[in-house]
Amino acid sequence: MKKLNLVSAAIVSTLLLGGVAVAADGPHDKAIKARQAMFQLYSYHVGILGDMAKGKMDYDAAIASEVAKNLEAATHLGQSTFWPVGSDNSNDANARTRALKGIWENFPDVAKHSENLKTATAALAQTAGNGVEALQAGMGDIGASCKGCHDDFRAKKK
Ligand code: HEC
Repeated sequence: MKKLNLVSAAIVSTLLLGGVAVAADGPHDKAIKARQAMFQLYSYHVGILGDMAKGKMDYDAAIASEVAKNLEAATHLGQSTFWPVGSDNSNDANARTRALKGIWENFPDVAKHSENLKTATAALAQTAGNGVEALQAGMGDIGASCKGCHDDFRAKKK
């Protein structure tokens, strides 16, 4: 019994320590993780389409079409709760985010970048299944819209 208590004490303290570490990440940690998960979804799908467009992966019309449609769907996630005020990278508590404060100061510009991406992905969702050349033709606008927003609103990697 005593041994069991020791073991569970060890487990409890591990859990507690884990809890402290999470709390230290800051109040916006969950929202930051959620938006980063959205961007990871973007990146996963763009990666597959890019590999097919470059011939690193065999072109498959059905998969290209599905992946492009997934990407388009991901750009339609509602983001109202993803960007709480104060969740930018100027706050030391938000150690994990690269979101620049300018996002909250130039919202119309951010929205423009989002719209560019939605337009590009909607077009690609229609054409990605029409052959590798159609896929290649659509990729430029996607890359440009990702990069456009990153140049303005995402901090460089440290
Ligand atoms: C409207 C602006 C905007 C657009 C459009 C955009 N991004 Fe981002 N992206 C950001 C910001 C801001 C961050 C930093 C988020 C953070 O760290 O909290 C980011 C972060 C990321 C990350 C890192 C996520 C992580 O786990 O830390 C990836 C990968 C990424 N974007 C990929 C993409 C791809 C691919 C596209 C285009 C399909 C794209 N983004 C379009 C603004 C944008």
